[in-house]
Amino acid sequence: RKVAIVGAGAVGATFAYAMAQNGSADEICLIDLNEELCKGQVLDLSHGLPFYPTINIYAGSEKDYADADVIVITAGAAQKKGETRLDLLKKNSVIIEGIVDQITAQNSQAVIVVVTNPVDILTKIALERSGWDRSRVIGSGTVLDSSRFKYLLSEFFDVYVGSIHAYVLGEHGDSEFAAWSMANISGVQLDEYSRQLGIKDWDHEKEKIEHEVRNSAYHIIDYKGATNFGVGLALVQIVSAILKNQRRVLTVSYHLEGEYGIENISLATPCLITQHGVESIVGTELTDDEQNKLFRSAEVLTSEYDSLKA
Ligand code: NAI
Repeated sequence: RKVAIVGAGAVGATFAYAMAQNGSADEICLIDLNEELCKGQVLDLSHGLPFYPTINIYAGSEKDYADADVIVITAGAAQKKGETRLDLLKKNSVIIEGIVDQITAQNSQAVIVVVTNPVDILTKIALERSGWDRSRVIGSGTVLDSSRFKYLLSEFFDVYVGSIHAYVLGEHGDSEFAAWSMANISGVQLDEYSRQLGIKDWDHEKEKIEHEVRNSAYHIIDYKGATNFGVGLALVQIVSAILKNQRRVLTVSYHLEGEYGIENISLATPCLITQHGVESIVGTELTDDEQNKLFRSAEVLTSEYDSLKA
């Protein structure tokens, strides 16, 4: 079971480090235009070999796309201070198209997971460029944002984070939203739970939590320049769900073709992940407010995509 990681920068290397410890891959191959950086990361990672489950870690080339099971694309420019994810679109779309051309030239049967931002639009661009089925070209979506949401809820309610089920849907970016109607603690809806606890002004607390989720990345970028640990672990969940055919539900970015009344754009919804990528959306009826927010995300992304293509 082989994972190729394109881009050995902060996100690619951190993901490789977490993936090596997870044990569901036998081979991790790092590929970067910056060969020295790539060599350095591989050497550093290899010094952990006595401590990982058995794994082979090496620097590779585009030939490695041929037999990879999953190709994770983290290559590109990172989000700079004050720069929105959408500012990155022009720079990164050229990079992604070039990488996808190399992947298809190798006749790869892999599932592609796009991470580079703005991830939803780049997922659509990768899908179109590949000509593959939509099940096999997905993005990291809001798996990270959903884990940030769960973390904040666990802090707020002082409940173990693993007992919390909660999703952020839509764009991985400013128009994303918390799907409160789906959020629960071991099956108890949060509106009900907060009533039981006598929490005052719960609606205001909800707004504060959602605002914090949406702005988490900006805070981290202000403090340390980039985000890498949370996303690295979110990627391990996605990639191991594919490698182990887990049939796990994760909010990856997936190209909608009429689901939720949305067409022709990739964004995050709860998707069932198998060894072949996304098998289906695990659909649920959203509230009117949530459905409108999902439409809004689709509109934002469609207009960004259109401006790129104009
Ligand atoms: P970084 O700058 O540390 O690493 C990017 C690497 O890509 C560099 O080493 C560069 O040499 C390489 N690269 C550029 N063009 C390439 C090409 N054509 N082929 C191979 N390698 C190439 O950036 P970092 O911090 O690792 O971020 C990577 C991307 O991930 C950014 O777009 C960032 O915004 C995104 N990101 C996405 C998240 C998500 O949840 N989707 C979360 C965090 C970051």
